[in-house]
Amino acid sequence: TPTRHFRIASIPGDGVGSEVVAAGRQVLDALAAASHGALGFTWEEFPWGSDYHARTGKMIADDGPDRLRAFDAVYFGAVGWPTVPDHVSLWGLRLRLCQGFDQWANVRPVHFLPGITSPLRTADTTPLDWVVVRENSEGEYGGFGGRNFAGRGPGGEIAVQSAVFTEVGCERIIRFAFDLARTRDRRKVASVTKSNAQQYGMVLWDEVFARVAADYPDVETESVLVDAMAAKFVLAPQDLSVVVASNLHADILSDLAGALAGSLGLAASANLNPERRHPSMFEPVHGSAPDIAGQGVCNPIGAIGSAALMLEHFGLAQEAARVRRAIAATCASGVLTRDVGGTATTKDVTAALIDNLAD
Ligand code: NAI
Ligand code: MG
Repeated sequence: TPTRHFRIASIPGDGVGSEVVAAGRQVLDALAAASHGALGFTWEEFPWGSDYHARTGKMIADDGPDRLRAFDAVYFGAVGWPTVPDHVSLWGLRLRLCQGFDQWANVRPVHFLPGITSPLRTADTTPLDWVVVRENSEGEYGGFGGRNFAGRGPGGEIAVQSAVFTEVGCERIIRFAFDLARTRDRRKVASVTKSNAQQYGMVLWDEVFARVAADYPDVETESVLVDAMAAKFVLAPQDLSVVVASNLHADILSDLAGALAGSLGLAASANLNPERRHPSMFEPVHGSAPDIAGQGVCNPIGAIGSAALMLEHFGLAQEAARVRRAIAATCASGVLTRDVGGTATTKDVTAALIDNLAD
């Protein structure tokens, strides 16, 4: 029997979610098969998502979160399909799990891979590698607000969407970013806000950042407004290491980072409950990609990179590195899906990657 064994709940969700989750699962199973019993994964798949909603009126079973507690991690595809309003599906499944399991740190590394031309790579080959740390429990996605129709007549409705920043919430994600910076070659944290325009929550964030920074004199810091940081991603990416930002800002910046690295289909993410009181959840950054779903052509690398982050969470750093090397080798060999300029299918890339695990 395997000495190290992990139980993983998989939630493929909607659209390309099922294609990329199948790819990631195959890669981990290949890794286990090659480990001669040292490593094992047991999977249980849950059918929650927009189809489930069509049958039951719910995005997840009522006892779903409780059932997930028994697992070592959740491996997630994507949620969202034109049959269900996006805010219903996202709140009903992904945000319900992230917030219900207090996965307050969302880690989104940006890797520039060989064989893939980035818009930033056209001029030179400077090594680029940074990580977006997203506050994942509050901020602009706190869910506070309301809509007022009453007596205002046609065209008069008022909606309020509030952002919530707590000192505890700011402090834990900022400390997380500093601790992460200490594990990297470049010990630097850039904090992103819009505190010139948003004078309460984001000023609190800035103050907490300055206070926490004092505890990490060995880590270089900068505070950058989000609009300037968007420009900096394009103009000075070599100057980035850890970038910590609010729920909304980091959501936007990580799609930009994925695109700069060559495709949104490459970007991986970990939703972590760092205290390990609840399961953490690993998912590609992209959504359900309805425009290409069902064609077998989506890029599985974001999901496979997310599986590597899950291995790291399990304490399997060597195995995670092996998957990352296989990802790089596959890209370098030119087995690429359409989004990164190739003609390979999802299955071609997955198979090539599994071959590369052997080296
Ligand atoms: P999206 O990320 O699904 O797609 C944006 C673009 O990237 C599309 O052109 C798509 O074809 C491409 N793309 C995405 N993943 C790809 C992959 N693996 N390989 C190749 N190309 C890929 O974002 P969009 O279109 O804004 O949203 C579609 C649905 O996904 C919506 O219902 C949205 O709410 C949901 N969504 C869910 C997320 C989640 O579950 N974490 C995150 C983002 C969106
Ligand atoms: Mg997003």
